[in-house]
Amino acid sequence: MSVSAVDPRQMNHVPQPASRPDYFSTLLAPVDHFPARGFPATVELADALPIKEGDRLVDIGCGIGGPARYLAKRFRCHVDGLDITAPFLEAGNKLSELVGMEGMVVFRHGDGQKLPYPSETLDGGYTQHVTMNVPTRNS
Ligand SMILES: C[S@@+](CC[C@H](N)C(=O)[O-])C[C@H]1O[C@@H](n2cnc3c(N)ncnc32)[C@H](O)[C@@H]1O
Repeated sequence: MSVSAVDPRQMNHVPQPASRPDYFSTLLAPVDHFPARGFPATVELADALPIKEGDRLVDIGCGIGGPARYLAKRFRCHVDGLDITAPFLEAGNKLSELVGMEGMVVFRHGDGQKLPYPSETLDGGYTQHVTMNVPTRNS
């Protein structure tokens, strides 16, 4: 099956295994999860995070947003993605629109070392395969 031939919104009825509860993550996973080991690494990260429904999280270094979309769908939370590479945000927001998630995830341009969110507006945050790019991460 060709990925480009499928409208993910037409696949809501497709049952998914518990570890992959959202059809489009499975469908887009080969291209929208950037960590080493790809989508399985995102699932393991999600399994380890204490996220509650309705939480508002920041994904620092979100790439094109696969992990943010996966977490938002799985936990019914909101994810603000932040990335320093502007074209990734454009692609990420377009993919979110494609799968009808523009209300659950928003991606914006910025440096993760200077978060543009008041801390009291967030319930938590995470970063995946990003800190190797930050020379002062221990300070
Ligand atoms: C290997 S990708 C991981 C992307 C995403 N976390 C994922 O798991 O799919 C690393 C990302 O970190 C971003 N990045 C690097 N330095 C950054 C910084 N100082 N602030 C925000 N994003 C940064 C890059 O633009 C890139 O999108």
